[in-house]
Amino acid sequence: MLPSKARVMKILIVVGARPNFMKAAPIIAAIQEHNGRRFADSADHPEPQGETIRHILVHTGQHYDEFMSGSFFSDLNLPKPDIHLGIGSGSHAVQTAEIMKRFEEVLLAEKPDVVVVVGDVNSTLACALVTSKISFGSHASRPVIAHVEAGLRSFDRSMPEEVNRILTDHVSDLLFVTEESGIRNLRNEGVSLDKIQFVGNTMIDSLLNFREKADASTILEKLTLVRHAEKNGGASSVIRYALLTLHRPSNVDNRDVFLNIIAGLEELATDCPIVFPVHPRTRRRIGEFGLAFGRNGSANTDKGIAQGSGNRRDGIILTDPLGYLDFLCLMKHASLVVTDSGGIQEETTILGIPCITVRENTERPVTVESGTNTIAGTRTDAIKDAIRRQLSRNRENGVPKHWDGRAAARIIDTLVRRHYEEPSARESLVSQALPVRDQCSCP
Ligand code: UD1
Repeated sequence: MLPSKARVMKILIVVGARPNFMKAAPIIAAIQEHNGRRFADSADHPEPQGETIRHILVHTGQHYDEFMSGSFFSDLNLPKPDIHLGIGSGSHAVQTAEIMKRFEEVLLAEKPDVVVVVGDVNSTLACALVTSKISFGSHASRPVIAHVEAGLRSFDRSMPEEVNRILTDHVSDLLFVTEESGIRNLRNEGVSLDKIQFVGNTMIDSLLNFREKADASTILEKLTLVRHAEKNGGASSVIRYALLTLHRPSNVDNRDVFLNIIAGLEELATDCPIVFPVHPRTRRRIGEFGLAFGRNGSANTDKGIAQGSGNRRDGIILTDPLGYLDFLCLMKHASLVVTDSGGIQEETTILGIPCITVRENTERPVTVESGTNTIAGTRTDAIKDAIRRQLSRNRENGVPKHWDGRAAARIIDTLVRRHYEEPSARESLVSQALPVRDQCSCP
């Protein structure tokens, strides 16, 4: 919005799907920390000193199950959404269009100063696009659009998320980047450096914040992954296991690709149990393809539908999707993680757990360069090779720059600076082309 004398900045934060919640939670915590400091500073004054921030949390409802959404709010101490759009599932077009229609009404009613969108899901793009074209009153102003996790590129436009990333970045005013590749990608697409802020990774803020708390999870006992020793006064230890997640349409919607990946895990399944929390899309495909998880984790088609919640089927243990703390606990203690998720590549990097990505590419190259991730593709032999290599690798990992738990604080500092201390710069963010400078602004 245009500069104002108001001392309250209104930030609207959008969440919609599972990977959004852990990225948004630290931003709300950083706002609360910011406001807490303002009130502490004002102990000797009748009014709070300086600016305060009011946040409005909007949940589009793209994900709606307790498994996919509800449990994350309690695990991450997220406040109940102020506004729930109740969108639910649908084709990309229907889902995106419904979010856009309902979000426009919210924007017109709330008139926030800033809209924060996170990640690369349909909710991210839909809300950024609506904000970029909204117009408030006679000033024809609109909120600043801040995209958290900007600049990531897989260079694979068959991924819906890649389309969402590119379009969201190009309608956003402030691009908060998690890794250096993001700066390069945005610059190559002609984005002005003034818009780019390398702040780190809010998903890692959550991980660092909750990694101790995750130890209180009872998921290891529930899945019988704990061995209770009779000797040593009954001390217990976690048994060796691997963790698997698969949900990308390109991996699970095609029967042959899905079977190739599962075949790549056969050897591993003879070595240790593989815990497989099953995404709703994947569960549906398992049913449609008539897959069952047979001896040693091999998938076959003659045993009916693979189902179950925590039921062990020889090498592979299928469970329902898990909450944040349960999943974090499982990642921390796993010998190996096999995944097609983006965020899990980042989380295993910080935890130092070997990760095999069953995709042809990653939009998060830092996880391969300095983390524990390897890109295996989806061919059976390549997955088997990657597993052998990863199981014998040295466990050392690097920590990508700014993945230090302070990303959300940097984001809030930047928003406050833009809003209160650099009004001319802020105005130009929404109404004019920005001059290109030769250096990135990195707080
Ligand atoms: C979405 C994101 C993807 C992200 C993933 C995490 C897009 C384009 N994709 O994919 O980037 O990695 O979330 O899960 O935004 N369903 C339920 N319960 C729910 C939500 C979904 O049962 O709470 C089922 C529905 O049948 C739905 C299917 O899962 O059709 C897929 O959900 P959808 O939101 O379309 O996409 P995801 O595959 O989850």
